[in-house]
Amino acid sequence: MKAILLLGGFGTRLRPLTNDTPKQMLPVCGRPMIEWVCDHLARHGVSGVVLSLGYRAEAFTAAYPCGRIGQLSYEIAVEPEPRGTAGAVRFAAEAGAVTGTFLVLNGDVLTDLDVRVLTSVHETSGAEATIALQSVDDPTPYGLVVTDQSGRVLSFSEKPESPSASAAVPEGGRPTVNAGTYVLTSRVLDRIAPGRPVSIEREIFPQVVADGALAALVSDAYWLDTGTPQQYLAANLDILEGRRPNARVVDGSAARSAVIHPDARIGMAVIGRECEVGPDAVVQRSVLADGCRIEADAVVVDSVLGPGAVVGAAAVLTGYSVIGAGELVPPGARLHGVRQPAA
Ligand code: GDD
Ligand code: MG
Repeated sequence: MKAILLLGGFGTRLRPLTNDTPKQMLPVCGRPMIEWVCDHLARHGVSGVVLSLGYRAEAFTAAYPCGRIGQLSYEIAVEPEPRGTAGAVRFAAEAGAVTGTFLVLNGDVLTDLDVRVLTSVHETSGAEATIALQSVDDPTPYGLVVTDQSGRVLSFSEKPESPSASAAVPEGGRPTVNAGTYVLTSRVLDRIAPGRPVSIEREIFPQVVADGALAALVSDAYWLDTGTPQQYLAANLDILEGRRPNARVVDGSAARSAVIHPDARIGMAVIGRECEVGPDAVVQRSVLADGCRIEADAVVVDSVLGPGAVVGAAAVLTGYSVIGAGELVPPGARLHGVRQPAA
């Protein structure tokens, strides 16, 4: 089966990391996120993918010039302007000659969902589309989905304004949200107007629901949308700390090429290639991209640094601060939850 990977968003919530790099090319434990996604699909029998691209499309083709990402061969569909999540699916399906039944994935979701199970649920449901759901405490950043006992979707509300929109959620149950993995049929493609932006969450799924033709499967597999600094950090730490058993870091070359002073204290953290960490510096629950320098006595906790960022001596960085490529945090600065440069 073929899959369309949606990769064309601007990654706004991850700025300045995404100022030059699309979200799905950001490294997770040293490998671009898209490689984790493609590995997972290859393990589940997906034969090829269409990369649905827009923002910084060339970053993908430059990184994988041979037309393969790991085991998967890929084709590309580059939108002339953002078409929205449904417009992008239609555009990519046409560009990649995708017909029949196929998969669509939000490219910024890391999951261990078995897509073969989703496909078989789809086959027995006879629905026009079948989507994966996850249970969460707060549905407001997601698409809130209410189903009946049989898995038929009763309502789909994208980014509900308040959790009270989940009044229809069965009592005692946690709300379930769109997990961003879909089995679609060409009947869904026919609903998508060509040549203009269309949102699958706001326009298309509500239509399919109204026709009683959307099915869903609730999964408890590992699942994480990586769209915010907190989530991006969690994507890295979940692998490091073993919360994602199917994903392991096997390449220690980054750690080997870093120069870490013996008096530095490194907690759970990703240290990129050729980073330098000075004496008495502390790095904890953080991600350092390649070539970062943390000077003496500096503290970096719960923060993310882009390539070549420098944290000056005795500076303190906490609270999901995000420092862009090549930026210098001045010596002695105290930054909490700050983006530099400002997003
Ligand atoms: N090609 C293309 N064109 N891709 C796009 C476009 C577009 O115009 N807009 C967004 N994308 C891609 C993004 O790059 C991302 O991989 C995916 O579509 C989803 O967009 P996000 O911007 O990350 O959406 P979200 O996280 O706010 O919400 C979505 O994901 C949630 C689950 O992770 C929705 O699908 C929610 O319903 C869902 O719960
Ligand atoms: Mg997202």
